[in-house]
Amino acid sequence: MKVLLFGATGMVGQGVLRECLLDQNVQHVLSIGRSMTGQRHPKLRELVHENFLDFSALEAELSGFDACFFCLGVSSAGMTEERYHRVTYDITMAAARTLAKLNPQMTFIYVSGMGTDSTERGRAMWARVKGKTENALLQLPFKAQYMFRPAFIQPLHGIRSKTKLYRALYAVMGPIYPWLRASFPKYVTTTEQVGRAMLKVAQQGTQKSVLENWDINDI
Ligand SMILES: NC(=O)c1ccc[n+]([C@@H]2O[C@H](COP(=O)([O-])OP(=O)(O)OC[C@H]3O[C@@H](n4cnc5c(N)ncnc54)[C@H](OP(=O)(O)O)[C@@H]3O)[C@@H](O)[C@H]2O)c1
Repeated sequence: MKVLLFGATGMVGQGVLRECLLDQNVQHVLSIGRSMTGQRHPKLRELVHENFLDFSALEAELSGFDACFFCLGVSSAGMTEERYHRVTYDITMAAARTLAKLNPQMTFIYVSGMGTDSTERGRAMWARVKGKTENALLQLPFKAQYMFRPAFIQPLHGIRSKTKLYRALYAVMGPIYPWLRASFPKYVTTTEQVGRAMLKVAQQGTQKSVLENWDINDI
């Protein structure tokens, strides 16, 4: 399987990259980012791209992939709706539309989050924008597309969030993870589980197109 990965420098993306590199069924990973991950691996190739609203210059590099794991995203904390929409909806759709055109056989997996609002009309701005993004992705002509909605993700294997706020949160939460997982197993997952679930869904498919935290853990 040939995998395209967005957000490989982030917490979720680092976890997904780790699982891809370990998986014998993955022959090649192409990471598209604003910066390099700093990792070296025979299966990994990286492209640094500046304008994430326009991927036309990369089109020659973006065909022939079986799966795209789209882990690029930001926290809405402190952001205006316009800025959050630009990163969450505009960037995702710019990439996805290009990929759907070039890879009709691709499985596209998007990381949104628990509480995403499919009606696009609720009170929470981030949830509406994520819902709009999911709904638009579900319309594209991929072989299949899946929306992953993790809740609380425990970073494993030394992985760290790019977001300062999350890093602080994870530092405080670290010691209580075992308790959290035991008390709220439906709402806690790990970077490893998210990555492994993506790989399994990309290879075998699954019935639901929107996967909640507990579905991810079950897979
Ligand atoms: N962390 C969680 O517990 C959690 C839970 C549920 C859902 N999620 C969702 O999972 C996704 C990833 O979260 P994360 O925790 O991995 O975030 P993160 O650690 O902050 O990483 C964000 C990733 O997105 C990239 N990115 C952000 N803004 C960009 C832009 N304008 N242009 C290009 N690349 C950009 C970053 O690249 P740079 O390295 O260049 O900044 C980085 O690779 C988000 O959509 C988030 O809502 C996370």
